[in-house]
Parts: sequence; structure tokens; C-alpha cells
Amino acid sequence: MKAIILAAGKGKRMHSKLQKVLHPVLGKPMIQYVIDAVRGAGISDITVVIGQNADGLKEGLAEANEGLNFAVQDTPLGTGDAALAGSKFVKDGDSVLILCGDMPLTTEAFLRDFIEYYETSSSDAVVAAVYRPGEHDFGRVYEDAGIFREIVEQRDMKPDSLGTDWANTGFYLFNGAALCYGLSRMTNDNSQNEYYLTDVPKILRDDGRNVRVFHSRADFSVFTGINTQAQLADAVGLMRTRINTEHMARGVRFIDPSSVFIDDSVKIAGGAVIYPGVIMEGLCEIAEGAVIGPHSHMKNTVVGENATVRQSVTTDAKIGANSDIGPFAYLRPGTVIGKGCRIGNFVEIKNANLGDEVKMAHLAYIGDADVGNDVNIGCGAITVNYDGRKKHRTVIKDGAFVGSNVNLIAPVTVEEGGFAAAGSTITDTVPENSLAIARARQNNKIDWRKQKKP
Ligand code: UD1
Ligand code: CA
Repeated sequence: MKAIILAAGKGKRMHSKLQKVLHPVLGKPMIQYVIDAVRGAGISDITVVIGQNADGLKEGLAEANEGLNFAVQDTPLGTGDAALAGSKFVKDGDSVLILCGDMPLTTEAFLRDFIEYYETSSSDAVVAAVYRPGEHDFGRVYEDAGIFREIVEQRDMKPDSLGTDWANTGFYLFNGAALCYGLSRMTNDNSQNEYYLTDVPKILRDDGRNVRVFHSRADFSVFTGINTQAQLADAVGLMRTRINTEHMARGVRFIDPSSVFIDDSVKIAGGAVIYPGVIMEGLCEIAEGAVIGPHSHMKNTVVGENATVRQSVTTDAKIGANSDIGPFAYLRPGTVIGKGCRIGNFVEIKNANLGDEVKMAHLAYIGDADVGNDVNIGCGAITVNYDGRKKHRTVIKDGAFVGSNVNLIAPVTVEEGGFAAAGSTITDTVPENSLAIARARQNNKIDWRKQKKP
């Protein structure tokens, strides 16, 4: 079995500079879902039909998917013309699945059912139809008790034509020789002056071949095609439901799954709890018992067992077990936090390693630093890591105490048990178990308010 995925065409109804099939659906380009489903259904010989100026599409797909074939459709003259371009790898005895790159909700299960039907029906072509009454922009499939008659595009429907509730999913299976025969006889005699792939099964039927309709029992949301930004948003909503439902089936507790957006690539252990408004992107991994939310925006963040993250923004960060983050913490790339830490409101951390049991309860900035275990960092304390040209590191060793409003002018070290007094500007090493005070002494002018001003 071979597959041809149609992914050229301008996608002009998207009004976007990005190639239509590269638009992301929860972190993954829509066409990648299609490729994954095709692979999942056991097809490894896949040809993607791309347009001539498909900026980055070929490179991006080739990098993410080993062994893909590409065919170029020079001018987007319609789905039939795209299939013709893709058919250059097709041989007479092949079985060929043709599908569209703009249908990310397709499933492996549907593809398997469809292929099984084709293989047992000994037909030259099978068109997959789905029951879909009412208004929509899909082609209509006409048949005579399972024998295919024709597909009429929504835009080519005559006002007096008899409707049908069976819609063209855009998935077809062909015998290789029949496909090439049909493609060679297409015309562009329709409202768009395009070569419609939908004409190919009709050409085969008119030639007396066995062309059948497969009535899919899958929900029609599986066939959500994306032609517009509004349909893209619908598809994101459907994919969100699908992903969140899978997590719930494994025991993840969602307070309101309809408000949570989790990328396809995220891993969440059963027993984690997700509050409303959470967004998790990329390679997030959430361990058992962790509580996330509300309104946290996390990217590539690993959260340990029983840790809590509230109303925080985190990117490329790692949070140890039992640590408590937020509300309103900002963990920037390269943040590694140990176990049992407390990182409170308005704390920003960047490119820093924190040991276990570190307390930074509020309003602090730690950047380019190595912090040991059991360190307390007071309110308003900061690392002064940038001298206007270069970044420098700060080292704060086990058991150290950095008082409120301390400036640590990097490069600088606070040794084990060292104590930087509140308000100090520390420029030199604070020795082990010692107190460093680096601030002007208080000078009281007694009764100053009562003195007459000259
Ligand atoms: C198509 C079908 C319609 C079906 C619907 C299902 C035709 C004529 N119509 O309509 O019956 O109900 O899919 O989603 O086939 N493409 C190319 N080159 C082109 C034109 C399109 O590669 O010249 C690709 C697009 O990237 C897209 C796919 O083919 O992935 C489908 O094209 P699109 O224009 O979206 O067709 P629909 O109008 O949705
Ligand atoms: Ca479409």
C-alpha cells in the first residue's frame, strides 16, 4: 500500500503567509498528524505533493520524517492535478491511498477500516463517504446502493439538484493502473476550471469498472478539513478535546478541560491535577501528584512529583518534587529547581541551578547562578549578572542566607553558611559562616524635624 498526501495549493482561504498544511494544531503542523495516522495504519511508502514555492515545507517534513517522497505540483490546478503529480511513483499493481494534508483529525482506526473494506471488496476504486446532513462545504457523494455514481462539489451544485447527506471525506483508495487511467482522462470542465480528483472515480465508473462507496461510521469531526482560520480554530478545539480526553482516561484530573490547551507532545502522569486556563507546549512532562494552574503557561517544562505550579510562566525549566512555584513566578530557560523549594510571587529565575529546600518567597531575581541546598534568598535580592557587556555567574553555597534587597555583583561567591546582611551590595566573597555587611551606617539626627530651617 502506498499513500499520496495532497499538500500543495495556495490555501488562499487562510489569508496567511504560512503554507496551509504547516499551520499548527496544538504545537504540531496539521500535515504531521496526517503523516502519523498514515504511518500508524501501517503505510510507510508516502509521497507528499507540495507546491513549487513551498517555503520550508519540504525541508521541515523531511527532517521530521525519514523516507518521505516528494512530488512537486508546478501550478495548483486542482486536487486531480496534484494527485497526477503524486502518481509518478505509482505502478500498475499498487494499491494507493490518496488523502488531503489539511485533515489533521483523521485517525488510524478510520484508515484501517477503510483499507480493510477496499481489500475485501476487490474494487478498482473506493471513495470514503461520511453521513453529514445540513450545510457544509464538502462534495456530495451519489451512489446506487454502494456502487459509486459521482461526486458533486458544493460550489457546482445546481439549485434544483437532489441533495444527499453523504459527504466526500476526501479519502480514496485506488488500484494503481485504474488511478493512472482515470488521471489521464480528467478535464477541468467545472466552475473553478480545476482538475478535480473527484472526477477520477466517475471516469472509472463510466468505463465500467468496479467503484464503490465506503460508508464510514466515524464521527464526521474526524474529517474536519481546514480551509479557513475559523476551521483551524475548530480543529484545535476538537484536537484539544481528543488530547485531554486521553489524559483523563489515564487518570489525570481536569477541573475544566475545555479551557486547557495541551500540545500533542506533552506527557502527564495519572494523578496530576490540571486547573483551568493552563497552556502546556512542547516537551512538558508532569509527574504524578503535581498540581498545575490555574492559568500557567508552560513550555518544555518538567515538573516533579507532588510539585505545585500556580499562575506562572515557565520555559525550558525543570522543577523538582514537592516544590511550590508561584503565583506569578517567571522561570526562564535553563532554570533547574531542586526538591522542596519555595519560589513565590514575582520571582524570576534564568539559567540557574537551585539545590533542594531553597526559599525565595517573593520579588527576587536570580540569573546565571548556582545555588546550593537550604539557601534563603530574601525579598528584593538580586544577582547583578550583567555588566553591560558580559554575563557573570554567582555562586551561593549550601545553607547561605541572602538578606532582603541584597545586590550580588557577579562574579561573586557566598560560601557555605555565609550571610549577606539586608541591603548589602556584595562585591567580594562572603566567607564560610560569616556575616557580610556592605551598606552605609545609619546616622540619626536627633530632633531634626523640630529644628528651624535657616
Ligand atoms: C476537497 C474535495 C471535496 C471534499 C473535501 C474534503 C475536490 C475537488 N474536492 O475539497 O469533495 O469534500 O476535499 O475535505 O477534490 N491541493 C493540492 N493542489 C491543488 C489543490 C489542492 O495539492 O491544486 C491539496 C490541498 O493542499 C489540500 C487538498 O488538496 O490539502 C484538498 O484541497 P482543497 O482545496 O482544500 O479541497 P476542498 O475544497 O476542501
Ligand atoms: Ca480542504
